[in-house]
Amino acid sequence: MVQTQTGRSQPDPLDRGYYLDRDCTTLSRHVLQQLKSFGPDAQDISALMNRIGLAGKLIARRLSRAGLVEGTLGFTGDVNVQGEEVKQMDLYSNAVFISTFKQSGLVCRLASEEMEKPYYIPENCPIGRYTLLYDPLDGSSNLDVNLNVGSIFAIRQQEGDDEDGAALDLLQHGRKQLAAGYILYGPSTLLVYSIGTGVHSFTLDPSLGEFILAQENITVPEHGPVYSVNEGNFWQWDESFRDYARYVHRHEGYTARYSGALVGDIHRILCQGGVFLYPGTAKKPEGKLRLLYESAPMAFLMEQAGGRASTGTQDILDVIPEKLHQRTPLVIGSKEDVALVESFIQDRKRRDSEG
Ligand code: AHG
Ligand code: MN
Ligand code: MN
Repeated sequence: MVQTQTGRSQPDPLDRGYYLDRDCTTLSRHVLQQLKSFGPDAQDISALMNRIGLAGKLIARRLSRAGLVEGTLGFTGDVNVQGEEVKQMDLYSNAVFISTFKQSGLVCRLASEEMEKPYYIPENCPIGRYTLLYDPLDGSSNLDVNLNVGSIFAIRQQEGDDEDGAALDLLQHGRKQLAAGYILYGPSTLLVYSIGTGVHSFTLDPSLGEFILAQENITVPEHGPVYSVNEGNFWQWDESFRDYARYVHRHEGYTARYSGALVGDIHRILCQGGVFLYPGTAKKPEGKLRLLYESAPMAFLMEQAGGRASTGTQDILDVIPEKLHQRTPLVIGSKEDVALVESFIQDRKRRDSEG
């Protein structure tokens, strides 16, 4: 630091370290710093994160011109394995992840909510022993009205040869995730990730074409004012979730925020505290969110930030899926707020068992 004429202190312009650290902590450099290693495994994870960043940049670039470029808005006319109508950008984003990882040599298999079966890259399999699980475009109903969307990802070690393509090794709990995170396409593009050493966020600097460190070791407050849930489903919820909704309606200190895109809603909660809920409904008893591509990666991040993620009765990271595209109810966010929701579920159970 140097003193200015007015007596204020400011960084020494000759201290290059200050400016390099502030402006140039890129994603790949950060991963290596976190792993405290330049060994082959650390290089792999760093390269993987770099590739995810590249996919994010390509998607962000296309989103920034949505409406100007043909094939960016609207539906394709197809229905995906989830029974949902596919949008042009769902398809594009899914393909971007595949092409980004095809030449990487790092990933043998990609599993996405848009594909019935994992996509294999046989030429990578002798080297790449990782699987990338992802939701290429989250919140796609926001696309046609120019609101925030995201991408969600997780990396798992591939176990076994998986010769028949059944991907049985993916049917394991979320604590097997090596890394997880999301990209938020908002006013700026953010990438938030964890490799089990805290949660860190990066902002895309479009002039550099790089994700630059924004905040290290993000921690979620123990309690926050926000509850984030689609209350239009109230009539379809179990009585315990209705009890919770009635509670927040009748007590001071709560505020509702719901954007229709999980990534945006969870990012708000990660920064400011509170709880996001997507309970089971009469029509979808397991809720809407997919365990492997949405709930488990978000749960990994939230736990790393000191928060919690639950189905209402079990930690999300302990849930063992029976199938690839399994859905799960989700209650995620600040520890105290998740516990409050769970307490309404336990109360109802107790009352039901008492008759
Ligand atoms: P996707 O666009 O990947 O299908 O995910 C949409 C999800 C999630 O982003 C959001 O929280 C939720 O669906 C919103 O669902 P509702 O419209 O039922 O509230
Ligand atoms: Mn989604
Ligand atoms: Mn999606």
